[in-house]
Amino acid sequence: MASISARGGLLVAAATAAALLAPAVSGAIVARDCARPGAACTIAETARRAGVHFGAIASTGQSDAERALLAEHFTSVTAENAMKWGEIAPRVGNYGFADADEIAAFAETNGMRLRGHTLAWGVMQMPSDLASTVAAAADPAARMSELLGEHFGTMVGRYGARVAQWDVVNEPLEVAGTVLAKNVFLDALGPGYLGLSFALARALAPGASLYLNEYVLSWPSPKLAALRTLVGNLRAGGVPIDGVGIQGHFYPFFPLPDRATMEQELRAIADLGVEIEITELDVSSWHFRDDPDPLARQAAFFGDVVSACMAVPSCRGITTWGIQDGDSWLDHAPPFDLAAPNDPLLFDRDLEPKPAYAAVRDAIATRAVPFEDEAWGVFRRVGKLRRDGLLRGPSVRTARRVVRRAAQMLRAERFADACDRLARGVRAANEATGPAVAEAAEAITALRLGLRCDEA
Ligand code: G3I
Repeated sequence: MASISARGGLLVAAATAAALLAPAVSGAIVARDCARPGAACTIAETARRAGVHFGAIASTGQSDAERALLAEHFTSVTAENAMKWGEIAPRVGNYGFADADEIAAFAETNGMRLRGHTLAWGVMQMPSDLASTVAAAADPAARMSELLGEHFGTMVGRYGARVAQWDVVNEPLEVAGTVLAKNVFLDALGPGYLGLSFALARALAPGASLYLNEYVLSWPSPKLAALRTLVGNLRAGGVPIDGVGIQGHFYPFFPLPDRATMEQELRAIADLGVEIEITELDVSSWHFRDDPDPLARQAAFFGDVVSACMAVPSCRGITTWGIQDGDSWLDHAPPFDLAAPNDPLLFDRDLEPKPAYAAVRDAIATRAVPFEDEAWGVFRRVGKLRRDGLLRGPSVRTARRVVRRAAQMLRAERFADACDRLARGVRAANEATGPAVAEAAEAITALRLGLRCDEA
């Protein structure tokens, strides 16, 4: 098995190198050389080939060596602080773009996706005079709307072409509650600040995915149900939310969920019809402090989180909230600093990959397997629609046949062939008659979307 060295890059045995040098095939889901457990690839290579993103944060304090790790092992970048309103504009309208510009340029230079974090976070890191400026206005609500519009316009105007996803609203719910958190936006605008924020973002950044990013969802809680209700109601009311970010801080002192629970939670949110990303993953090693092999246990947990995401087609990416253990917010933020060193990341303080690195990579490589299950699910669903008389005509038989074939091809990791069959399945479903034509075609289309069949 190849070893991955932070400083030396990927060191591969000759045989593995030959495999890696196999002719490149086009399409994110076609080239799956890395997408097999134990493959000697970086996380970035595996993620690219599995059609998902795996990112980490960038901050201005990072060393060249840390930045080299970021570029080599990750595919996506989130600014830890530099794009937050109060960091980029310590006072209202008083922008200093240097730090955010540098991070955006780093992402661009290295061909990495950029997540925009975050446009409206009403609790922390706001301009110091935002609340007083709004309070002093004759019409505070109008003034807050105006300031949000100016800020969103400034940020999207400067970074919009480079930002694939915006965390439009961050942490709208109470930390462990089920209602909206009290904050400057809620105070001035009421709950309508959410709809306003997403509408502004959509108008300014029509091509970006717009996310609501929420925290403390990492174990079963009423907050998850509240989030579903919130997002479901907003979307039903026409608010353009494309995705839900689940931060994924596995803080010390709180229980860890099991893998099945995590997948269940992700599916519960995906069922709303949104994309999902785990946007701020870190796993405090406090949880494993009494274990004879804490690093192995931490690796297993990281693997569980990532495989839960990989099992849900609309879970499209994961970002770790840091690169290396020596630079984690958990060691500085009360009460989590009491557990320092939390060592919650994939690289150690010497910038060497921890066991969690391989666990994450191998979990990403499992991306294909759940799609096979999904394909069989679609196969059965089309069959039921036919039996119920809701889908009729000779092309239904074709649709079922090609979906079944696609499932078999997914098992054999013949992803491009599976995509071709599924495209035929969509056509065949549309040629059928009966009230369930759209339902059948959409089910097959959803599978194609999950597989990213049409993406290069
Ligand atoms: O800006 C001051 C700077 O002037 C001063 O020199 C320095 C000295 O300590 O402090 C600086 O402010 C710090 C800021 O980060 C920028 O470095 C704050 O003290 C510090 O509290 C702040 O922490 C950030 C935290 O958000 C604030 O809430 C963390 O770095 C950052 O990792 C963390 O990230 C958040 C996500 O955005 C949202 N989800 C939760 C996550 C963890 O809290």
